[in-house]
Order: sequence, then structure tokens, then C-alpha cells
Amino acid sequence: MKGIILAGGSGTRLYPITKALSKQMVPVFDKPMIYYPLSTLMLAGIREVLIISTARDLPGFIELFGRGDALGMQFEYAVQEEPNGLAEAFIIGKNFIKDDKVAMVLGDNIFWGQGLTGNLKKAGSFEKGAVIFGYYVQDPSAYGVVEFSASGSVLSIEEKPVKPKSNYAVPGLYFYDETVSERALALKPSDRGELEITDLNLNYLKDNQLTVNLLGRGMAWLDTGNPDSMLDACNFVAAVQKRQGSYIACIEEIAYLNNWISEEQLIRLAEPLLKTQYGRYLKSLIHHK
Ligand code: DAU
Repeated sequence: MKGIILAGGSGTRLYPITKALSKQMVPVFDKPMIYYPLSTLMLAGIREVLIISTARDLPGFIELFGRGDALGMQFEYAVQEEPNGLAEAFIIGKNFIKDDKVAMVLGDNIFWGQGLTGNLKKAGSFEKGAVIFGYYVQDPSAYGVVEFSASGSVLSIEEKPVKPKSNYAVPGLYFYDETVSERALALKPSDRGELEITDLNLNYLKDNQLTVNLLGRGMAWLDTGNPDSMLDACNFVAAVQKRQGSYIACIEEIAYLNNWISEEQLIRLAEPLLKTQYGRYLKSLIHHK
């Protein structure tokens, strides 16, 4: 399975920060935002990742991750010229995906909680179609919203509905089979001029090939779309890390636990950082596997 991180867009709700730098480079407590969605793909066992961003911001990601060797991964990069919609990622990524399945995570979505790895592995083991998630939120009107029948089957998905038909929002993490690029190519732009991910999901639903897995309340799905939710996310990460002593979205740790890098490689990554807590944390992982 391949992975895509969509890390472009205008990020207008975080303006003027995003005038200065890529939204996904903004720190969420102690690490750049993009570490969080990357960690989600890594926990799903995905080693080949395409980062899609703007021409302005892509060089920063290339400098940060290179070809991915330091994490025992393979990174590729592609430009999205304009924010033409989330589903455009599968058109841009067509040659990268080839005949494989693909998971896409939005560059500003953070997932954390009990059972996440199990959920991701389960979602990733599908044979055909698409797997997306539903997460109960107080106010779903800013998201894609799933409507279920009494027996639990999916009736509809609406993008940012004024009157949501349920409280189940669709988080920015999607698993698709190898037909995704073809389906994305067949989409028409919405009224706001975007190739909508919701329309892509409806395309699978129409063929009876859409599964929606509910994420329980033990799972945190955080949005970092505006200054308030950014601050909440920073405080959340800080509180959990300080209390538990284990890090959220430490990509070097996940690479090590996945056996993608050796103990020696981890030590090499930690050594230049030993003046920081992050570096000392990496070093402390040795022998704790
Ligand atoms: O966060 C989950 C929600 O993400 C879903 O519930 C919605 O169904 C989905 O449409 C999306 O809604 P948003 O309002 O959060 O989408 P937004 O336009 O803010 O884009 C999400 C991220 O993707 C953002 O960091 C910018 C980036 N992006 C966006 C577009 C439209 C791109 O890189 N390229 C794009 O073309």
C-alpha cells in the first residue's frame, strides 16, 4: 500500500502565519505539524509516501525528509499548482499509485489514541473499494458528514452541510483501492470549484463499495485548522507527553519499532540532538523495544 500526504492549500484560516510558511511546518508543540499525519501512515505500515504541496512549500519538505532513507522509507514529491480539491491528489499521484492501494491523510489532521494502530491495520487490510472513518463531534457542519440507517449502513455523505444529518464527521484519512485515480478523473468540480473528496466517496458508495469505520471516543482526532484549534492541539500533545513520558508522532521511534531502521541508525539520528529533550527521548528508546 502507498501513502499520500496532502500538504498544500492556502491555509487561509491560519493567515498570517501561512503567509510566512507552510501550514504543515507550523510546530504542534515540539515537532512540525506534518510529523503527525506522517506518523499515522507509518503506523498503518506504509513505507512509500508521496507528499503533495505547493511549489513554494515543497522544497521545505524535500529538505526535511529527503528520499526518506533516515526513516527507512521512500519519499516522493509532487506539486499541486492550485488548491483544486482533495480528490485531485489521486490525479496528481496516478503514476505514484500505479496499481496499488493508497491511503491519503491530510497534512493538518492528527490522530492519536488507544487502538489506533489496530484500527489502521484493519482499515488497510481491505480487498476492494474504499474505507473511511466516522468520528462523533459536537458540531460536524465544518466537515464531511455521514448519515447512517437504523441498521448502520451508510445512506449519504454531505460536505459541510448546513443541517447535518448526524454528528459523525469524516476525518481526513482515506483508504482506496487501485480504481481511485480513474474515479477521481471522472469527477466534476463542485459549486466551489473543487474536486471534492466527498464526491469521490459517494462514487464508491454508489457502487456499494464504501466502508465507514467508526472511531471510538477513546481516540483523539484533532483539527489544526485555525489558531484556537492549533493551540488546543499543542496543549493536548504537551499534556500527554509530559504525563506519560512517551511521545506522540515521534517518526524516528515508529520507524525503529517497525524495524525499518536499526538501533545503530536510531543512535545516529539521536546523537546530534542530545541537547534537546527530543534527542534524549530517541536515545532512551534503545533497548526498550
Ligand atoms: O479535516 C477533515 C475534512 O477535510 C473532511 O471532513 C472534509 O470532508 C474534507 O473536505 C476536508 O475539509 P476541510 O474544510 O478541512 O478542507 P480544506 O479545504 O481545509 O483542506 C484540508 C487540507 O488540505 C488543508 O490543510 C489544505 C489542504 N489542501 C486543500 C485543498 C482543497 C490541499 O493541499 N489542496 C487542496 O486542493
